[in-house]
Amino acid sequence: MDVVPRCYRRRAATATPVASLWPSHRGGGSLVAPSAPRCRVPAWYHHLLWAYLGLALLSFAALLALSAPYGRHGRAGWGPGLPTRLAWVLWESPQVIVFLAVFLHGDRRAEVAPLALLALWMLHYLDRTFLFPLRMRVDPARTTPWSILALGVGHNALCSTLNAAWLTGVGPGYPPGWLASPAFLGGAALFLAGFALNRWSDAILRGLRRPGEGGYGLPRGGPFRWISCPNYLGEILTWCGWALAAWSPAGAAFALYTAANLVPRAIDHHLWYLRRFPGYPPERRAILPFVL
Ligand SMILES: NC(=O)c1ccc[n+]([C@@H]2O[C@H](COP(=O)([O-])OP(=O)(O)OC[C@H]3O[C@@H](n4cnc5c(N)ncnc54)[C@H](OP(=O)(O)O)[C@@H]3O)[C@@H](O)[C@H]2O)c1
Repeated sequence: MDVVPRCYRRRAATATPVASLWPSHRGGGSLVAPSAPRCRVPAWYHHLLWAYLGLALLSFAALLALSAPYGRHGRAGWGPGLPTRLAWVLWESPQVIVFLAVFLHGDRRAEVAPLALLALWMLHYLDRTFLFPLRMRVDPARTTPWSILALGVGHNALCSTLNAAWLTGVGPGYPPGWLASPAFLGGAALFLAGFALNRWSDAILRGLRRPGEGGYGLPRGGPFRWISCPNYLGEILTWCGWALAAWSPAGAAFALYTAANLVPRAIDHHLWYLRRFPGYPPERRAILPFVL
């Protein structure tokens, strides 16, 4: 039996067996099927994935030492900036444009499971890239440094390449029954729960400002009863759900990167609230109710 998917036969000489990266989901409902065909992952993908994981660890270490200089932690010394709203659109647009380009380049672009995963990805990123910046209430004088924007764009281009390539080209492919598998159903439910928590929390934060204002209030109610950054918790749950639904190493790496990025930032926000608001609710934690 030929074990190499059609689209990657020509690259087999430089490929790494996918089994060394991730258990296959080729067996339908079960996650690992003994008779599953082995997919070969091209060397470039393998290298990019490891580089991305290295970046996640590096970011985590850096963000524990210093807070990312945008929003309330913005400060001089990071070079010139551009208006925050525009910066958000540019920052997030690779997650739409690059993802779509790589997805459509793959041989399995018309299959139902990759299309369902594309729909989840776009549900989040069309909103985050084009609608969130319109909704946000921001001081018109506030800017985001180009240096930080460039890092964000680089990360997003890499992340979307890894995730989209897995769905339609590099990964072992999804059987027709994948959408009824526990991994997909549980992952999609977690994705939607995280999405709802993230949008709900961001809406509460938005309600603390009038249009054109840039000050900070003390968020209360809803998930803010327990933690200072429920929007970040929602974001992490979203990408854990995606990783489960896609059952991919790229999805797991993105979930890890999101946590590596947002857990230190949630701690920074929490300490900032404690300094800024005397009498800040003592039972409130940073990002994990009752724990952290
Ligand atoms: N996937 C990822 O790795 C990743 C990375 C970063 C962000 N995100 C997501 O992108 C969204 C925005 O991120 P962010 O870091 O900007 O979140 P954030 O610091 O919580 O701020 C969200 C928005 O609310 C405003 N805001 C926050 N706290 C406020 C308060 N106490 N009073 C009044 N306004 C307040 C902020 O204004 P200022 O900007 O003026 O502070 C900003 O416009 C979040 O949903 C986050 O989950 C995802």
